Amino acid sequence: MSDSFQRQQRFVHQVIGHQLPNHNKLAPLKRQGHGIAPVNIALSKYWGKRDTILNLPMNGSVSISLPGLGTETTLTLTPISENSPHPIDSVQLNGESLSDDNPFCIRLTDFLELFRPENHTFTIHTHNTVPTAAGLASSASGYAALVLALNDLFQWQLPPQKLSLLARLGSGSASRSLYSGFAIWHKGEQPDGLDSYAEPIATQWPELCIGLVKVDVQQKPISSTTGMQNTVNTCDLYQAWPAQAEKNMQTILEAIEQKNFEQLGQTAEHNALSMHATMMATWPPIVYWQPESLAAMQTVWHLRKQGIAVYFTMDAGPNLKLLFLETQKPAIQQAFGETEVIQPFKS
Ligand code: PMV
Repeated sequence: MSDSFQRQQRFVHQVIGHQLPNHNKLAPLKRQGHGIAPVNIALSKYWGKRDTILNLPMNGSVSISLPGLGTETTLTLTPISENSPHPIDSVQLNGESLSDDNPFCIRLTDFLELFRPENHTFTIHTHNTVPTAAGLASSASGYAALVLALNDLFQWQLPPQKLSLLARLGSGSASRSLYSGFAIWHKGEQPDGLDSYAEPIATQWPELCIGLVKVDVQQKPISSTTGMQNTVNTCDLYQAWPAQAEKNMQTILEAIEQKNFEQLGQTAEHNALSMHATMMATWPPIVYWQPESLAAMQTVWHLRKQGIAVYFTMDAGPNLKLLFLETQKPAIQQAFGETEVIQPFKS
């Protein structure tokens, strides 16, 4: 057992242990568990870890979840019998069985190893309700749904904050996918990582719209995990990032509270471009943009010059997520054609 695995396992036991003292937390009470969680888009981003084993971020972040787009997961536990030919986990993604050497499968079963009761295998059926062509990262909703399925399977009845801690271990941004609406992921200070979780923000903003501009929906050339670590290790500009990101986060929180759309849009766009600047100043360079990404940004800037309040944000990929208010919907749809529009507080 590696040191990293032991540290992660200790963390898991700290999280679930406080809830159920003197109880065997990894004894399943049911055969099957079920979980469903939305994708989220960061308005001020998480980029860079201060602890790669516990997935502790360098800075806090704020997101908005997209209802109806996400992951639904069912976990089944099977005891290994003496005559089981292959006591291994099996994974189905959108109805298709994955081979054990598939990277998605390896990452998932490595995570589940932390929760495995002795002599049991997991069967995982996971469905992304994100249309495959949406160009949205599904690891956030994926690990949040998986942790909800574990909570159901083991009947831990953990509060969302603790589920957020566990989801964070699978994928940092998953910590924010336990909630609908806005969420804040606190960076935390403690080395044990128990204070780095997400919480919901109560504000509802029915007029707020998110437009998905799909440039390319293929798998990205470099994962966010590798990308952010290379940035932390080789990018001199990155030194400025954590302080800027924390400042942006406060400005976004204020904008949400006051429903100040200009402040929200400007800060989110500036924050996303600053994150991409650190990626580009990494060696070897990380450039997720494609020519169509830049063309879409230019359309946004052109619309703004014409007085239409629209801003964008981008994650570790070439697709843009537009931010605007309901009144601008016709102008945006005219400029961007078939863009899918989501109203997180209305859908
Ligand atoms: O959760 P990860 O490890 O896939 O990283 C997500 C990083 C960004 O999407 C670029 C930013 C964010 O805060 O979601």
